[in-house]
Amino acid sequence: MLSKSDTLRNIISKRGRESLKRRPYLQLIILGIACAVLLAGCTGTQDVQSQGNETSLLLGFSQLGSESGWRLGNTRDIHEAAQRAGVQLMFENAEQKQENQIKAIRSFIAYQVDVIAFAPNVEDGWDNVLTEAKAAGIPVLVTDRQINTADESLYAGFVGSDFEAEGIRAAEFLLEKMNGAGHVNIVEISGTIDSTPMRQRASGFRSVLEGDGRFTIIESISGDFLRSKGKECMRELLARHDTIDVLYSHNDEMTFGAIEAIEEAGLVPGKDIVIITVDGEQEAIGLLIEGKINCVVECTPLIGDVIMELAKKLAAGEPIPWETYSVEVTFSEFDDDLDALPPRGY
Ligand code: AHR
Repeated sequence: MLSKSDTLRNIISKRGRESLKRRPYLQLIILGIACAVLLAGCTGTQDVQSQGNETSLLLGFSQLGSESGWRLGNTRDIHEAAQRAGVQLMFENAEQKQENQIKAIRSFIAYQVDVIAFAPNVEDGWDNVLTEAKAAGIPVLVTDRQINTADESLYAGFVGSDFEAEGIRAAEFLLEKMNGAGHVNIVEISGTIDSTPMRQRASGFRSVLEGDGRFTIIESISGDFLRSKGKECMRELLARHDTIDVLYSHNDEMTFGAIEAIEEAGLVPGKDIVIITVDGEQEAIGLLIEGKINCVVECTPLIGDVIMELAKKLAAGEPIPWETYSVEVTFSEFDDDLDALPPRGY
């Protein structure tokens, strides 16, 4: 690991230390940039991973936070993939704040990284900072969640999951599970408001069930992808509704909290309330095997290798696909080989 000043030294070296010796005014400019970057870096959590290779690609990555096991797995995978690929990584954790992500991206621009990648917390509000990256000639890769912009030239491509398909798969399990059942009351605990997984997991789910009069989503509330909020939301839902047949939860972390609330209310998760969750963390697969969860829709955080491959292409000026989606599956109580699943890695 390198400190920020070590990194700056590497970058100065990379951009031509010899020419700086001949042009002292440039040293002042670099010093100014360094101060600005160090100040900008006072928010969030930054670390720098070096390959000790001064000519390797320098990738600035802004992670949105550490709200879930999924996110921690994603962060770990990106670090490990950078190591494997010989990519020098500047990593910033925005702690769930969009303003921290914007500051991080500005610091990457000041450092003149080769490529910027980021996992946007929400979809709107990126145009200004991405216009700055474009003006600096730094290609941008959007990862995990999507952004909403009228100007598609502001980024080079997207890599992540198809959240709409995940919502569809959640509803398809429910159709199979409720085959022959009467009326079904569903509650939904959704993810962070205005984020892509929240929006698309909701719409994919509804697109399958709409028009089938047996299914009613009696309430949908946001648990912000957090375990503690998942528990709070489920307590509220149980207090407000006498009959809840199904919980559709947008991520495992909220599901773990909701299961605690269901058990505290004296109900049996997976039996009194059918539970459908998204992500596929190791703990969720364990609860599926125990019968406390009925269906786990996979959303993989293990996209680090693809990010490195695309970043290398961008740094080399090569084209990349506009969208790259992970291949994902569904695990459910209908599977008979769950015990044989390899470790999930998150
Ligand atoms: O964007 C992916 C989602 O974000 C995952 O489902 C969730 O666990 C994470 O917080």
